[in-house]
Amino acid sequence: MKIGVLISGRGSNLKALIEACAEPGFRGRIAIVISNRPNAAGLALAAAAGIPTLVIDHKDFASRETFDAELDRALRETGVELICNAGFMRILSDGFVEKWRNRQINIHPSLLPAFKGLHVHRRALDAGVRITGCTVHFVRPEMDEGPIIAQAAVPVLPDDTPETLAARVLEAEHKLYPMALKLVVEGRARVVGEHVVLSDADGGNVPAALFMPSPR
Ligand code: GRF
Repeated sequence: MKIGVLISGRGSNLKALIEACAEPGFRGRIAIVISNRPNAAGLALAAAAGIPTLVIDHKDFASRETFDAELDRALRETGVELICNAGFMRILSDGFVEKWRNRQINIHPSLLPAFKGLHVHRRALDAGVRITGCTVHFVRPEMDEGPIIAQAAVPVLPDDTPETLAARVLEAEHKLYPMALKLVVEGRARVVGEHVVLSDADGGNVPAALFMPSPR
């Protein structure tokens, strides 16, 4: 399956996906990495891995729709079958999202539906939750909504700052996203009535922090 990864910045999740795709027998290949920011560090990670990159700078477009049309064109031209948002900080138009329905996935650093949007770790600390985590889900027009493929739980520790909590969640993200992508490219994560039904996914053997299903 040809994958297009959308980024806006650092690209640590992109790196985890690149490494996953390099595993023998992995049924997906990253065909292009597209950034809406010219200075996104993730672009260099992709280039170092020999993956074609493209900058589509949103500032060059008069409207969200014209930016999205160019993004759609580039993805189709490359033959992309699945989009992975990996720290992509643009809201996509409903039209774009509907065109890629069930063919676009996203990672969000909270246990959705809790803490949608920005500043999630600050808000988790303010709320006093003991457990937070991350979620990979199919994209829907409403921000950070859509059928959940996989989640990982991460403890909040007494002395956490938004930064220390973000770092702990990010470690989990780097395990969760490749695992969820594997389920999708193998056709083992199907959307049925806005829930994801997993086939042959092993929820057992769950490690210290809770991943569901379990990464393997
Ligand atoms: C991650 O925490 C991801 O969950 C969120 O944005 C951050 C991107 O980090 N959507 P990176 O660019 O993958 O390092």
